[in-house]
Amino acid sequence: MINYNNNRPFVEGVSLEDIAKAQATPFYVYSQTKITNTFEQLKNSLDSEIFYAVKANSNQSIIKLMASLGAGADVVSVGELERAILAGVEPQKIIFEGIGKTKQDIAFAIEKNIRLINIESIDELERVNEVALNQNKKINIGIRLNPNIDGQTLDKISTGKKTDKFGIDTDKLNELFQVLEVSKNVNLIGISCHVGSQIFNINVFAEIFQTMKANAQIFLDKGYAIKHVDLGGGLGVNYAQDQEILNLELIKNEMNKCYVDVPYKLSFEPGRYLVANAGILVTTVITIKNNGGINYLITDAGMHTLIRPALYKAHHEIESVSGDTEKPINYTIAGPICESSDIFGKNISLPQQQIGNLIIIKDTGAYGKVMASNYNSRGLPKEILVKDNNFFVIHKPLSSTEFINQDHIPEWID
Ligand code: LLP
Repeated sequence: MINYNNNRPFVEGVSLEDIAKAQATPFYVYSQTKITNTFEQLKNSLDSEIFYAVKANSNQSIIKLMASLGAGADVVSVGELERAILAGVEPQKIIFEGIGKTKQDIAFAIEKNIRLINIESIDELERVNEVALNQNKKINIGIRLNPNIDGQTLDKISTGKKTDKFGIDTDKLNELFQVLEVSKNVNLIGISCHVGSQIFNINVFAEIFQTMKANAQIFLDKGYAIKHVDLGGGLGVNYAQDQEILNLELIKNEMNKCYVDVPYKLSFEPGRYLVANAGILVTTVITIKNNGGINYLITDAGMHTLIRPALYKAHHEIESVSGDTEKPINYTIAGPICESSDIFGKNISLPQQQIGNLIIIKDTGAYGKVMASNYNSRGLPKEILVKDNNFFVIHKPLSSTEFINQDHIPEWID
């Protein structure tokens, strides 16, 4: 995503150093052209409907961009549902997922007349039917199945094994059919699954396709007119130069082999794939110190800005914008938060750094800003969108005074 002009880093036609002169770090920068190109490539390769998993990057500009490219939205909370509607996604292109929907959430989704609510448990089916009955409506639903497939990915982002909390266990289908039978205010139109994130193995995709086809047939045989089979997200993204690349052509071949003359449409709900490589985090070196032989670079971004390395031991490539290239040094790059897990990378060879230099943490367009927190009351990061020679601040966080004023002190404390 970064290109170099006279050794200076640019995103599209905009110099990162120029952005950093105008905007205080830390900030995320996204390339609109990269997102657009990735979307087009995915859409053309898979030739299926795409519902953007808003959770990966829920900035209003990013959702609006996805909608303008023709994507629907996959949302998992009322907040994300509101975001999608406000960003202009047509309600009939919004899928509401998530394993913990309250009656209020369900009522809100029904009022917005979205495409479907994906049911993740049998008691939720009863709840959705009851809320629809109260509104005197018959609403479209999908069933998220737990297909018991190991996505062969990190434990913390695996979602499709029998023991995971997601979806309805396929052993419980008879019970599900009994409840469906008496649920007169819902109309079952689709099934879906999502077995985890960062899937590369083509055999896993093949297993998902075959399992979902077999399950769709079970529903069809029972007389349910399944119109949509959603194959989930999880398409693997490269975070390191030597990592394997996801082969979309192989995936499409497997789809073509599996789904011949089926009476339903196929769709995917990727998040990470569409945005991860289109974003970077830019931060400034605040302190340089050697503790016990370790060269620490302390940056103004930390686990409050990007939690993936601390939470999942996730790898992100790190680059410096300047420095003495004659003297490369192995640095441990850490944030300013008072926790030892606040580390972005260890033993990273960079040109010798000085306080005030800019550091770039790459491939942070997905699950970056959306997982940022206000820990240590350091505030949330800005987000900047670049298109050609222009940049625009698409998220301006609250100032410390503003977020402090969100707290209220009762009279009895004086
Ligand atoms: N659909 C459902 C039902 C999901 O639960 C998810 C992600 C997606 C789609 C999109 O998955 P993707 O295409 O982005 O892999 N915070 C973690 C990732 C958690 C993913 C949760 N579910 C990370 O930073 O790696």
